[in-house]
Amino acid sequence: SSSEQPYRTAFHFQPPQNWMNDPNGPMYYNGVYHLFYQYNPTGPLFSDHMHWAHSVSYDLINWIPLDLALSPTKSFDNISCWSGSATILPGNKPVMLYTGIDSENRQVQNMAVPKDLSDPYLKEWVKYTGNPVINLPDGIQPDDFRDPTTAWLAEDGKWRIIVGSQKDKMGIAFLYQSEDFINWTKFDSPLHKVAGTGIWECPDFFPVWIDNKKGVDTSVMNLRVKHVLKVGLFDYAKDFYMIGNYSPEKENYVPQNELTPSTLRYDYGKYYASKSFFDPVKNRRILMAWVNESDSEADDIAKGWSGLQSFPRSLWLDQNQKQLVQWPIEEIEMLHENKVSILDKKLEGGSLHEVVGITASQADVKISFKLSNLEEAEELDPSWIEDPQLTCSKKDASNKGKFGPFGLLALASNDLTEQTAIFFRVFKNNGRYIVLMCSDQSRSSTKNGIDKTSYGSFVDINPQQDEISLRTLIDHSIIESFGGGGKTCITARVYPTLAIGKEARLFAFNNGTESVVISELSAWSVKKALINVKKTISCTD
Ligand code: FRU
Repeated sequence: SSSEQPYRTAFHFQPPQNWMNDPNGPMYYNGVYHLFYQYNPTGPLFSDHMHWAHSVSYDLINWIPLDLALSPTKSFDNISCWSGSATILPGNKPVMLYTGIDSENRQVQNMAVPKDLSDPYLKEWVKYTGNPVINLPDGIQPDDFRDPTTAWLAEDGKWRIIVGSQKDKMGIAFLYQSEDFINWTKFDSPLHKVAGTGIWECPDFFPVWIDNKKGVDTSVMNLRVKHVLKVGLFDYAKDFYMIGNYSPEKENYVPQNELTPSTLRYDYGKYYASKSFFDPVKNRRILMAWVNESDSEADDIAKGWSGLQSFPRSLWLDQNQKQLVQWPIEEIEMLHENKVSILDKKLEGGSLHEVVGITASQADVKISFKLSNLEEAEELDPSWIEDPQLTCSKKDASNKGKFGPFGLLALASNDLTEQTAIFFRVFKNNGRYIVLMCSDQSRSSTKNGIDKTSYGSFVDINPQQDEISLRTLIDHSIIESFGGGGKTCITARVYPTLAIGKEARLFAFNNGTESVVISELSAWSVKKALINVKKTISCTD
């Protein structure tokens, strides 16, 4: 029941029980969305024998659970079936590439195809008997070669993929080419490499339009696209990305931003091993990621499960071509109910306004703030810029400023002892303004033994021209926040003990000394989706 399992979610993907990590091989095929994921069928912790579990959906909201798609059974994968990606080959034929840990403990790349293309759910997957299709490269450690991407096809008729690796702490995206998808040749130079970054996990490489929000199919290459290279840095447990220019003729990738620990991230909270795919139905690129637990292993054993998938987001290149923008897919509206709204409400310094009329533990909230008298803003201390996350933890939600902290208090208990604050602060910097966004988990639970780190980053908006907007998805133990229309995203895991179920409350707050105006707030309860429930979805409604 929900009182025994207060941290299970209503609209975030999770299996009924056990351990889940990376999303694998997401794809759309013949009317159905597929999501595979790293899964331990035997318990709530990571295991030495990982499997691919499989669910399908017609709307990316409700998910039907199917049998395991890949299990460690063959010499080329009998220790584990690790992450991989889907490619739809010409003739509408899906194929998976995935990492196997072979009987000698080496990471190799394998191929699998659906057993029966006329099965609408593609329930059974057959491993190619000639696996592995790619062996460990010379000079690479056996546990440093994994996570093949979706393939792209260039005009020379050759497919390409990259595979994550490292050598002497240099992160590497090895590039392979193939004409038949079976015989793969390593290209001399990797697509990209960066010294000192450690192994690159779950790379993703895809085009984005330079001038609109639609998605681009993975093999499209022309002057109207830039290419995103995303890598998961294992040493940081974070997904970083670069934006750049890719030339298949020269087979080189020139990123416009460097990969450093302070560079662009999809999400400045918990968000890892993400994977994107092109959705031809709505012409968009969809992104999902593993959001791990912040509680202890003992807690996970008690719960019997561990790991969530983020709510699917569509992503595109920002107008300024310097960063990506992400936004929850519109299908969430199917689950909206009890809309409440507030217009033009002044929030005095040091005040709270409760949002009533929705289920605050299961909600979608949009709020935007209008600021005047910006010249009153605090002067920025340059040392606050280097590490915005640290600035957020020093200047937590209780730290009074001038403009800010203002934002939302999510999953707040009656007496406010429990609360997760998602907020902004505005600083003056050489006549311009800088907006900091924070997610403060320090008071999220009275429980101990939980990682309550605060997260934060800057939002590239100009408060002189733009309102400061925040959208927050609240789902029992996960809070996903989108600042500035999706320019800065922060995901957090929280484990309230008082603010659970119907007891949870939601507030807009302003803990600065300057007043701000809520120009608009819209909030909805989010209904429970049917996620991995073993029963047939009735067609009567
Ligand atoms: C990322 C990762 C991948 C690997 C998989 C194993 O979280 O470590 O590199 O393929 O998870 O489950």
